[in-house]
Amino acid sequence: MPKPRVVVVGSSNMDLVCQVPRLPRPGETVGGGSFVTVCGGKGANQAVAAARAGAAVRFLTRLGADAHGQTLRDALRQEGIAVHPEQPDPETPTGTALILVDAQGENAIAVAPGANDRLTADDLHQHACDFDDAGVALFQMEVPAETIAAGLALARDRGVTTVLNFAPAVQARGMIGPGVSLLVVNETEAGQLTGLDRGTGVGVLLDALLGLGVGGAVLTLGGRGAVFAFGRQRGEVAGFAVDPVDTTGAGDTFCGALCAELARGAAPADAVRYACAAGALATTALGAQSATPPDSATRRLLDGSA
Ligand code: RIB
Repeated sequence: MPKPRVVVVGSSNMDLVCQVPRLPRPGETVGGGSFVTVCGGKGANQAVAAARAGAAVRFLTRLGADAHGQTLRDALRQEGIAVHPEQPDPETPTGTALILVDAQGENAIAVAPGANDRLTADDLHQHACDFDDAGVALFQMEVPAETIAAGLALARDRGVTTVLNFAPAVQARGMIGPGVSLLVVNETEAGQLTGLDRGTGVGVLLDALLGLGVGGAVLTLGGRGAVFAFGRQRGEVAGFAVDPVDTTGAGDTFCGALCAELARGAAPADAVRYACAAGALATTALGAQSATPPDSATRRLLDGSA
């Protein structure tokens, strides 16, 4: 059977990760940490998650002409992901994220986007054929808003299902509307998008997301699972019990896995359940891509045999 096809448009970062006993307050120094450098970026993490979930992935991203850019490109190629444009940006460094992870697996992230800010609509038009036979096109918010808008239009013109993960939640929300088949956000992002308080019930939040004019919405609830509305079909999926080590990239894994399953033709409820299982497993090791599970591990958890 041919692999489901997913095109991802988004960021690539080198993640500089420091595990510390607790997150420092402003102006405070916390010692006793350990350090690791791993591949990240929301777009790249989602591309890797879709590939490990069994999809054939094309990834439109912008890397710098530096060692981090080459390392990221090599890692993506090893996953079998086609990366475009092939030319690195000669003037801007590859994106970098500074990540602190505490003993409970919670994190704080600061991103210097670098070359990610130079992925243009023109880059996407030059690789428009990457959208031609895709089942799903997946976007997040770490590249310029006009680039995402151009990608959404390219996908919609070709009848490709569009999934927008509005993370991080930024001011540019003009592209959220009928051009988005499915909006994926967590509770914080949903609150920022809709203006509703964090304590608002998930059903009300989901309605408010649909009120933005998108075709459907998934509200992720961290360890509690997710709720969704695909047109008139609504449902909820309970979280999977795991021992979290680092939650970095769990949402990215959720999105990549979800899109692979949707492109495969899975029913919405099954796709969300698969994505919840993959996202839960992604919290059980340090890093984003370094913790992204293969399809076999996700299915073991779904079967209850993990
Ligand atoms: O979602 C996690 C990602 O956010 C990290 O990999 C980091 O690069 C930032 O983009």
